[in-house]
Amino acid sequence: MKALISAGGRGTRLRPITHTLNKHLFPIANKPMIFYALEKVSATGIKQVGININQGDKEIKKAVGSGKKWGVEIEYIEQKGGALGLAHVVKNAKDWIGKDELLFYLGDNIISGSIKPLVNKFKREKLDCLLALSKVPDPERFGVPVFKGERIVKVEEKPENPKSNFAVTGIYVYSNLIVEAVSAIKPSSRDELEISDAHTYIIEKGGKVGYEEITGWWKDTGKPEDLLEGNGLVLANIASEIKGSVDKSSKIKGRVFIGKNTKIGKNVSITGPAIIGQGCRLKNSVIESYTSIADGCEIRGTDIYNTIICDNSQLVDCKKRIANSLIGRDCKVISEKLSQPRGHRLIIGDNTEIEL
Ligand code: G1P
Repeated sequence: MKALISAGGRGTRLRPITHTLNKHLFPIANKPMIFYALEKVSATGIKQVGININQGDKEIKKAVGSGKKWGVEIEYIEQKGGALGLAHVVKNAKDWIGKDELLFYLGDNIISGSIKPLVNKFKREKLDCLLALSKVPDPERFGVPVFKGERIVKVEEKPENPKSNFAVTGIYVYSNLIVEAVSAIKPSSRDELEISDAHTYIIEKGGKVGYEEITGWWKDTGKPEDLLEGNGLVLANIASEIKGSVDKSSKIKGRVFIGKNTKIGKNVSITGPAIIGQGCRLKNSVIESYTSIADGCEIRGTDIYNTIICDNSQLVDCKKRIANSLIGRDCKVISEKLSQPRGHRLIIGDNTEIEL
């Protein structure tokens, strides 16, 4: 069995972050999102991994490398013709897949549990397709299975009136029948080859389709609030460790990881779960739970809650608490006290959101 991980697409719902960073590299608890997918795949024992990337993309390759870190061999597969749907991702990789079975893993899905039981069930029951399901409050955002008794008879993509309250998550296990399915289906009304249509094709062809409900949590990180939630869920299990230095006047409570060469200066209160990367400087600040601060950041005179801050950003003397926010790399959020003439000075890119 080979594993294919998707890492292409445009990430439009995560703009402006995704104007300059592939969403699969956005840090969740200070680790690029796609690393979680690689960890899960490598734990199944699969050795041959394909990563689907946008045409001309060099970022993913640079961040992920050969796969040695995870004990796997990676082949990068450019998606020819653009982001034309998830079934197109598989179709585009068909020469690489050859006659093998396939674990298809959407690189923006984060789960807490192991995927080994899914692969085992697929093999044990000699299935053509195993779908991992998760109960959700908003199935209309996902592929939704239609049941007849215990059997899935169809999968509908983002239906207006979902027939069950399950989402088909982005972790799929297939026999080689998937190659035929993705080649046979036609584009949907949004002009994409839908993975849900490939599943319905397999069912209609008499393929054996099984499912398993995911235990533990699952997150599809399409929107900013999903990234924050995924970040919070990963942080909730983080190991506490302090590699940097902490001033006597500062307090650390709960699960907190602090990287090396980070200086927690005077009057800082950190309440976990939280992670602070390497080489950061913090002073006179309050860091509350579910906050991830990446390497090289400077935080002074600022309160932060449930926020992800990427590398080398600065937050200085912010009057109001920064909450539920995503801050990219090399950003500056500083007090208007420092600007002349008086007022908020904004240098912001396209699609930015600011609440003043
Ligand atoms: C895709 C699939 C959908 C699936 C979801 C899981 O949707 O089309 O069937 O339920 O991934 O993450 P997207 O996130 O691309 O909108």
